[in-house]
Amino acid sequence: MVSRPRRITGVHRSSPALPFTVPVAVPFTLAVALVLTGCGGDGVQGRPGASGVRDPYFPKLGNGGYDVTHYGLKLAYDPDTERLTGTAEITARATQDLSAFNLDLKGLDVEAVSVAASVTGAAAEAGAGEDARWNRAGHELTVRPRDGLDKGETFRTTVRYSGVPETLTDPDGSQEGWLRTADGALALGEPTGSMTWFPGNHHPSDKASYDIVITVPEGLRAVSNGELTDESTRDGRASFSWHTAEPMASYVATVAIGRYDLTRTTTKDGLPVVVAVDPTQAEASRAALAGIPGILEWAEAAFGPYPFSSSGAIVDREDDVGYALETQNRPVFPGAPDTGLLVHELAHQWFGDSVTPGSWRDMWLNEGFATYAEWLWEEDHGGDTAEEIFNSLYSGDYFDDPELDAAVWAFPPAKPSGAANISDSPVYERGAMVLHKIRRTVGDVVFHNMLRGWAAAHRHGNATTADFTAYVEKAAPDKHFGEIWDDWLYGEGKPARP
Ligand code: TRP
Ligand code: ZN
Repeated sequence: MVSRPRRITGVHRSSPALPFTVPVAVPFTLAVALVLTGCGGDGVQGRPGASGVRDPYFPKLGNGGYDVTHYGLKLAYDPDTERLTGTAEITARATQDLSAFNLDLKGLDVEAVSVAASVTGAAAEAGAGEDARWNRAGHELTVRPRDGLDKGETFRTTVRYSGVPETLTDPDGSQEGWLRTADGALALGEPTGSMTWFPGNHHPSDKASYDIVITVPEGLRAVSNGELTDESTRDGRASFSWHTAEPMASYVATVAIGRYDLTRTTTKDGLPVVVAVDPTQAEASRAALAGIPGILEWAEAAFGPYPFSSSGAIVDREDDVGYALETQNRPVFPGAPDTGLLVHELAHQWFGDSVTPGSWRDMWLNEGFATYAEWLWEEDHGGDTAEEIFNSLYSGDYFDDPELDAAVWAFPPAKPSGAANISDSPVYERGAMVLHKIRRTVGDVVFHNMLRGWAAAHRHGNATTADFTAYVEKAAPDKHFGEIWDDWLYGEGKPARP
C-alpha cells in the first residue's frame, strides 16, 4: 500500500478570485493611456508601456516597456491600526521609448510619484527625481514622467503610499495578499497578492533584487526574504532591514510581522539558516525544522548547488494561513511542517524561485517538480519508490477519495483549464508523473543529470514548458518523447498506457 500524501493540494487551495476581469478596468486603463499620449503637446517622446504582459491566465498582471532590476521598499506597519505606510523605489530599465508606464498596485492610497531619469550606479544612490503625473484604474497605476524615457535608459520611480492593505479571498476561502495574523501580519503573493503591499511589475517574468526595511512597534519583529543586514530600535519602534541579492519574483516576496522566535544558524557549508517561529508553534516545529540542513544537503545532491545565499523558514499558526508557500529563501508554513512539506517547499527554491515559470501556464514546472522531489525523498528514505507512487496514481488508489483520484486527469499539466485551476492536482501529481515518464525513458543516471542540468540552465531566470521539452530532447537525443508530450503533458484525459 502506498503512503497517502501529507497534504492534498488543490483541495485546500483553489482559484484566485480573478481580480483582473473587472470589466471597466480595461477600457478605463486604455482611455487613460490614450489621454496621456494625447496630451503629448509638450513633446514627450515614446509610447505608453503595455498595462499587462499578456499572461494566458492573468493578462493584466505585470506591465510592458520596462524591466525592474531592484526594489527598495521602506515599510512601516502597526497591527493596531492595520495601516501600512510605504515608500517604494523601483529601479528599472526601459525596453522601449516610454511616454508612460504602468505599475500594479491594488488598494492603498498613492500620495506622490516621482521619476529620476538616467540613473546610473547602485540602487542605493537615489537621485532626486521629478514629480510625475499619475492615474489609477483598477490595479493599474499609470505613471507619466515629465520627460519621456529612452529605450535602454535606467530610471528610478519612487511611490509614496499608505492605507490598510487588502486581503484577497479566493472562492474556496483561501487568502493571499496582506493577511492579518493573531499578532501581526503576513504578506503572501501567489499568484497575485503582492500588489496589495507594494507597487511593481507583478508578473513572475520580471525578477529583481530587493532591499526591504520594515518598521514595527517595539516588541514585534519583521521577517522577510534574504539576509537581515540591520536591526535598530528608536522611539518605541523597531526596524529590520532585509537584503535579497539574487533575482526574486514578486509572488515569492514576503513580510512576516509578529512575535517570532528567531534562530540563526548555518549549514556545514556556511549557508545561513534563519528560522522564524511563532512561539506557540515552537515546540511542535522544533524537530522538523532541525531537519532543514539535512534536507538541503539531500536536495543539493539531487538538484545541484542551493541557488541562494540564505535559507530558513517562517512558521505561523494554522489559523493565520491556510497553506504553505515557497517564499524565497524562507518558505512559510501553517503550523509545524512535516518533512514531506518541508521537502516540497525547499525543492521549490530550485524549481519556482530560482527557475521561475515564464507565465502562470507553466505552473507545473513548479509544482510537478516539487511534488516529484517529495517522491524522490520518500524513495531515498525507505518509503515508497517514485515508480510505486506513479503506479498508485495511475491505478486510481492513491488518494482515499475516488473523486481526488479521478481529478488527476481533469486537464493536462501544461494547459490548466483556467486561472482557477493552476493549483489543482494535474499540475502537481500529473506534473510529477510527466517527470517520472521521462525518467523511465532515459534511465536514472541521465534523469539525475537532467534535473541538475535544468536547474543550472535557467538558474535565477525564467523558463517555459517549451524550454523544458527542448531541454529534455537535447539532453537525450537518441530517445523519443513524442508520446509523453502528446499524451501526458499536453493531452486531455487519462493516457491509455501508464
Ligand atoms: N505553491 C504552494 C505550494 O505548493 C501552493 C500555493 C499557495 C498555490 N498559493 C497558491 C498554488 C496559489 C497556486 C496558486 O507550495
Ligand atoms: Zn508547491
